[in-house]
Amino acid sequence: MATTLTINGKTHQVDLPDDVPLLWVLRDEVGLTGTKFGCGVAACGACTVHINGEAVRSCQTPLSDVDGPVTTIEGIGTPDSLAAIQQAWVENQVAQCGYCQSGQIMQAASLLAENPSPTDTDIDEAMQGNLCRCGTYPRIRAAIHDAASKMKEA
Ligand code: FES
Ligand code: FES
Repeated sequence: MATTLTINGKTHQVDLPDDVPLLWVLRDEVGLTGTKFGCGVAACGACTVHINGEAVRSCQTPLSDVDGPVTTIEGIGTPDSLAAIQQAWVENQVAQCGYCQSGQIMQAASLLAENPSPTDTDIDEAMQGNLCRCGTYPRIRAAIHDAASKMKEA
């Protein structure tokens, strides 16, 4: 069935079954491969994107449940104009292999949109579903605090 999606501010028409996960729409149909496949069962956070500004697991979000604009890691900044949160990630050298990091950033971005001054406890609670095999958790926490400061200065 033809569906119209707004992704990173652009309109896309896709003709796919309603139960296709948003993750595969983004990666295979629209070519936005920054969003990663990790577990496929909403247990790792690698596929995190925003719908209506809220963090969701795109691997377990069927096309029929997409009820608002979608934002992916490609939609929050560009290499020439990084979002504050991306700049904080770079400056804190968060990434190791990097595979989980777009999901981490999207989860963190939704936290900061709701709570501009998160405590360590707030961060740990918000980020607990985003796993990192490389163990970058301390740097993720530092980068979120740094991004919070940058966003206040902006
Ligand atoms: S791939 Fe979606 S949560 Fe792991
Ligand atoms: S940076 Fe390697 S899995 Fe997170």
